[in-house]
Amino acid sequence: MSTTSMHGMWSSRLAFIFAATGSAVGLGNIWRFPYTAGEYGGGAFVLIYLLCVAAIGIPIMVAEVMLGRRGRQSPINTMRALAARQGAHPAWQLLGWIGILAGFLILSFYSVIAGWTLAYVLRAGSGQFLGIDGPGSEAIFAALKAAPGQLFAWHTLFMVLVVLIVARGVASGLERAVRILMPALFVLLVIMVLYAAQAGDFGAGFAYLFTPDFSALSANPGEAILNAMGQAFFSLSLGMGAIMIYGSYLSSQASIGTNVAIIAGMDTLVAVLAGLAIFPIVFANGLAPSKGPGLIFVTLPVAFGQMPFGALFGAAFFLLLAFAAWTSAISLLEPMVAYLVENKGFGRVRASLLAGGAVWLLGIACLLSLNAWSGFTLFGKGILDLFDYLTANVLLPLGGLLIAIFAGWILDEQVSRSELGASHGAWLYRLWRVLIRWVAPLCVILVFLNKSGLI
Ligand code: PHE
Repeated sequence: MSTTSMHGMWSSRLAFIFAATGSAVGLGNIWRFPYTAGEYGGGAFVLIYLLCVAAIGIPIMVAEVMLGRRGRQSPINTMRALAARQGAHPAWQLLGWIGILAGFLILSFYSVIAGWTLAYVLRAGSGQFLGIDGPGSEAIFAALKAAPGQLFAWHTLFMVLVVLIVARGVASGLERAVRILMPALFVLLVIMVLYAAQAGDFGAGFAYLFTPDFSALSANPGEAILNAMGQAFFSLSLGMGAIMIYGSYLSSQASIGTNVAIIAGMDTLVAVLAGLAIFPIVFANGLAPSKGPGLIFVTLPVAFGQMPFGALFGAAFFLLLAFAAWTSAISLLEPMVAYLVENKGFGRVRASLLAGGAVWLLGIACLLSLNAWSGFTLFGKGILDLFDYLTANVLLPLGGLLIAIFAGWILDEQVSRSELGASHGAWLYRLWRVLIRWVAPLCVILVFLNKSGLI
């Protein structure tokens, strides 16, 4: 069995933590978490989300890193090799293909939203938000969505930046950047929370996030639970092979459990901080929590427009958010590129251009769905919203379910014990085993069955 990957290795355990945290922390935490929590009424949704992270997300993240490190190849070939070693059916490699499809669809709309963030760097920096109120902010956001040319330019710039790093090789390209800029984003987020505590309606925001009001779910509890679970998968980058491939560059000595605890903890902390920064401002300014995907783009400018040095803070905030999106996007593209390098014999540059170019094309359909093609809907959603919904709530949980079944039921217990057990107490390993064999898969299956109306 190989102890290194042909695509390179992390230079240290810290490099893996930074890269995987860079993958996990992104638009999912700061853009998607607040708007989804707002759509499903706050506290009860947040509680279910946290339970999903603990009972489903963390065990699956451990499994993904472990399978990646065991296989040391792109997810498709890793699953092919591991299945062959266990004498299991070669169809397990389908798991890798589902991941490629999910990564492809996610990145196509993710890049458009990252484009909004880039556009907002300029709007904030040039002082456009000074003194605006809720309706003023909504008008600026609506104007951006209605301008396909601008959306196209930012989407294109973002994809170019992603391809640039992936073409150079993730293990060497990513580390230094994440080390400086992630802590900077964190500090800025804390400043925003402090500002919200002082200038916003902090009591209302806090209560909204942390007082579970289950009656808020009663309209459609199954849908709320599905979305909370999907948000956990999306935010932790699970179920599509991103964490698996990052695991494949991790040294055999590193402790998977400790690393995963740190990554998932950071990811959850950032999401909660984002909620604490945004909802007090929402309530203080009479905005609606259930505004949907525009929530932070309407809410935060109002705050930046009022606070001292708001233009500077605003520009820095959106720039760092774009950076966080960039480190996530890189991990979305990497599984495809590694596969093309392994199986088609392409160089990294050619593989990155090809995969990135295809994503870029699909992204154009996503951004047109906000304006010129807004009349075209499937299941009541435009293309961008549909990709967002389908990937987080269907493809990622499906991929996660298959990962859990493979790691818990197909892989020899001896293998997972030697990968995970050595550095932890036996009870922790046993706990993981119960979660990965029973709790995680049954939860995903029950939520799916409920949603399809079967139970
Ligand atoms: N976790 C990233 C975020 O929260 C998005 C992502 C999903 C990245 C799936 C990789 C894989 O922004």
